[in-house]
Amino acid sequence: MVALTVKLGDITQFKVDAIVNAANTTLRGGGGVDGAIHRAAGPALDLACAQLGGCPTGQARITPGFNLPAKYIIHTPGPIWVDGHHQEAELLADSYRNSLQLALSYGCQTVAFPSISTGVYHFPLERAATIAVETMFDFLGNQTTIKEVWLVAFDPVTAKVYRNKIDEFQR
Ligand code: AR6
Repeated sequence: MVALTVKLGDITQFKVDAIVNAANTTLRGGGGVDGAIHRAAGPALDLACAQLGGCPTGQARITPGFNLPAKYIIHTPGPIWVDGHHQEAELLADSYRNSLQLALSYGCQTVAFPSISTGVYHFPLERAATIAVETMFDFLGNQTTIKEVWLVAFDPVTAKVYRNKIDEFQR
């Protein structure tokens, strides 16, 4: 079974094959983890993102990591939470699945994710964690390239919620 581990910290510091960015559909940077990644990667990242011409919600695009310790950055715009009746759950699952698919096709063995959509986009944390953990285990069980995935939480509450979900899933 692929190791799925929760870590508390700043995803920009992770020396992995790919980190995932909770982006927006313009891919031109923003606040939260997106802002932190753009600052740490340096201005070449925005130039690369500009070439991509945006990305629909739930899809994913890849760039080099530039000044980051990570080799690649996978950018995925998660859904903005409206009321739960706007395909939010499906789109969030798409973000995790399409990001992992891209990591797989680039031969990545180690991948780190932030908690997509649970910041500025206000996806309820418990529901987001259930979707993230289920989608990741589902995908990871059907491949052998990706060996380790980190879910990087920026605050202890988020870390606890994801840890509990992983425990529930593995019970
Ligand atoms: N490392 C890991 N996690 C982080 C970091 C970091 N350095 N910084 C914040 N987080 P958010 P979203 C956590 O708002 O909800 C941007 O403006 C944060 O505490 O970054 O998908 C984009 O451009 C939260 O738990 O992403 C979009 O417009 C999680 O990352 C919009 O925000 C996600 O919060 C995307 O919103």
